[in-house]
Amino acid sequence: MKYKIKNICCIGAGYVGGPTMAVIAENCPNIQIEVVDVNKERIKKWNSNNLDELPIFEPGLAEIVKRCRGKNLHFSNLIKEKIKSADMVFISVNTPTKKKGIGAGKASDLKWVESCAREVAEYSRGHTIVVEKSTLPVRTAETIKSILNVSQTLNPHNNTFDVLSNPEFLAEGTAINDLKHPDRVLIGGENDEAIDALSKIYQNWVPDKKILKTNIWSSELAKLTANAFLAQRISSINSISALCEETGADIREVSRAIGSDSRIGSKFLDSGPGFGGSCFKKDILNLVYLAEHFGLPEVASFWNEVVKINTWHQHRIAKLIIKKLFGTLSGKKIAILGFAFKSNTNDTRESASIQICKDLLDEGAQLAIHDPKVSSSQIALDLEINPKSKLSNNLNEGVWDMANTIEDALLEADAAIVLTEWNDYTKIDWEAGYKKMRKPAWVFDSRSIIHPEKVTKAGLNFWRLGDGLI
Ligand code: NAD
Ligand code: UGA
Repeated sequence: MKYKIKNICCIGAGYVGGPTMAVIAENCPNIQIEVVDVNKERIKKWNSNNLDELPIFEPGLAEIVKRCRGKNLHFSNLIKEKIKSADMVFISVNTPTKKKGIGAGKASDLKWVESCAREVAEYSRGHTIVVEKSTLPVRTAETIKSILNVSQTLNPHNNTFDVLSNPEFLAEGTAINDLKHPDRVLIGGENDEAIDALSKIYQNWVPDKKILKTNIWSSELAKLTANAFLAQRISSINSISALCEETGADIREVSRAIGSDSRIGSKFLDSGPGFGGSCFKKDILNLVYLAEHFGLPEVASFWNEVVKINTWHQHRIAKLIIKKLFGTLSGKKIAILGFAFKSNTNDTRESASIQICKDLLDEGAQLAIHDPKVSSSQIALDLEINPKSKLSNNLNEGVWDMANTIEDALLEADAAIVLTEWNDYTKIDWEAGYKKMRKPAWVFDSRSIIHPEKVTKAGLNFWRLGDGLI
């Protein structure tokens, strides 16, 4: 084999860079892995002796970090130095939606990717394989290559490069398992020897038949398409949940019935408060932008609807809650159960809880927000207002405070809304909950994790998503 990889540098110590490199380190003890980031605070947390302080919560991650950190897995801000010594550089930086300029609101902002390419161009030595790990618009590899090519002409070290696309398909909350047992690993590129070098790394734990090799543009587009298809399933089932509520059907039964068709499959058919997470919305909007850019407005509007109905669905849930609570939330305490965009993560990016809480605050609600992993400071950033330490029924403005326990959240509350499917919420003793709450009290379940009978028997009013019978 032409390229033997001994030193990897991963630029970006985020939700993807950290866990991905941890799993590579564990499976490739002979490769030294340096994860670098501009964010000093984040790196400090990755290096913390207290593993509860790692910047990312993922089941199984802390154990791997404990085993590998300081041996062949290292975290630092030494970007220049670590690029210099690397045979392979992963670019795993953020690619959010552009906020201004051409394509604002849709196109991905590639400024961080571009700055990585410039850094690699400047600091690398010898032959370097550059791997796109970030999710990128189709043909980004072209941009990266042209920046690297400048280095080839200006740099006195006669550097050479290959660029590969190797998108990541992990989902948060199950990242370690997804990385250890991926459905597939996708590698797109032009040079077979570079593709083989990356493939060899994965072969340490991934069966050969699961490593798919494609051309670079197919690889880039496949990542966007996979997210668009997954999100589309959620928008589809959520749209039908609204119809269930009108017709006496039950969305759980409809999901089971359609999911049993092997052509449809049962995964990603759980109706919920609307998809969140840092990627679905951004990646679909990026696809919409690309379709528009390439003169395909029908394709663009098809995918745009997936995002539009997701936002509509979140407002729909908030409106419905307001209606059930006699059309006003002024002075009412509402327990919000769950703020993360899904369970088993501390990530709140694009969480449905943000939009729903904002709608309730606009109606003057007093929110007591509980989440086992999300911090009060993160919620303040998301809701764009600081917490108020004492909620009071006399207040007319919408305010929120953190509830440290579920019991605190329920105390004197007029309603409890389940927005994240944390396991703790499945175990709530609703008889005890009823006694704490102000009557008539409601439970709203947007995740289908609460047993209806346990709630109604306790004397509480109950609503759940897509249930046309209640
Ligand atoms: P993140 O925001 O958690 O992490 C990105 C990190 O890159 C940040 O810590 C930031 O400080 C750092 N960074 C930015 N520019 C830098 C530079 N020039 N030099 C050094 N560090 C720099 O993002 P993430 O969630 O890890 O996502 C990264 C990419 O992976 C995105 O393109 C995303 O779409 C994609 N992706 C994310 C997931 C997910 O579950 N989060 C899954 C698959 C793919
Ligand atoms: C998603 C994809 O699943 C990953 O394959 C992809 O790598 C990643 O995006 C990415 O590119 O960032 P993630 O956003 O971490 O992963 O989590 P998902 O499990 O996909 O959940 C996304 C949202 O959809 C969550 O809000 C979740 O609650 C919701 N969801 C999911 C449903 O409402 N119903 C379902 O049946 C499944």
